[in-house]
Amino acid sequence: MISPHVILQMRQKTVAGNWKMNLDYQEGLALFSEVINRVKAEVTGIQQVIICCPFIHLHALVQLAQGFEKTAVGAQNIHQSESGAHTGEVSAKMVRSVGAAYVIVGHSERRQEFGEGNVLLAEKIDIALKNNLKPIFCMGETIKEREAGKHFDVISQQLTESVFHLNEAQIDKLILAYEPVWSIGTGITASTEQAQEMHFFIRNQIAAEYGQAAADRISILYGGSVNPENAADIFAKPDIDGGLIGGASLKSRDFVAIVNVFNRS
Ligand code: PGA
Repeated sequence: MISPHVILQMRQKTVAGNWKMNLDYQEGLALFSEVINRVKAEVTGIQQVIICCPFIHLHALVQLAQGFEKTAVGAQNIHQSESGAHTGEVSAKMVRSVGAAYVIVGHSERRQEFGEGNVLLAEKIDIALKNNLKPIFCMGETIKEREAGKHFDVISQQLTESVFHLNEAQIDKLILAYEPVWSIGTGITASTEQAQEMHFFIRNQIAAEYGQAAADRISILYGGSVNPENAADIFAKPDIDGGLIGGASLKSRDFVAIVNVFNRS
């Protein structure tokens, strides 16, 4: 019988950067090279680093990361269909074909700007998995929803409608990210208690649906104004397995400092 403490240690620690719509081609390559060099020089733990970049960077970043298994590359979105007449869109198969391993699904900026809802996001998760891409599925409540005391209901619904149709083998391929919308890019992080409380809730929901072992294995990242100063307190919480980092992922020193929080724990 493995103790819960050992399981906790076994859970993959992950820090994912989300560059959003920033950096031209040359700037992206330069930043990624800096990140890799710093990770090589400074990161001694087994934590995983994922960079989710714009589509134009994907192929080059995969090439730069080759042979260095600590760092993986992901996209920030895919279309829900296999292929076809969807001008301007990019498919999961295309993303996979350049060697990317991950894709963010359900980021609140896509939910808000492009009206992506839970049912559509379920389709995106499916097409990602079908094409061997691991989804980083983002959930989060708005400030209005939190103030109305609806935050647990919102997260529960996001999980139920986008994730719970998956089978056990599929759920193992998912990374979850809790990102309170009011905390993204605002400089306001959820308190460590609020974050841990929600991560514990999410893990319990997974346990109720897929069993405790699956819940103990799944990585749940926290996202929203994480920086080198606050990351240690946030990542110290038992149900927080790393972070999804926006603004601070655009500076290699800050980003790798966040990754390095796990070297100390
Ligand atoms: P932020 O973004 O770190 O800039 O708040 C996080 C995210 O949107 O993933």
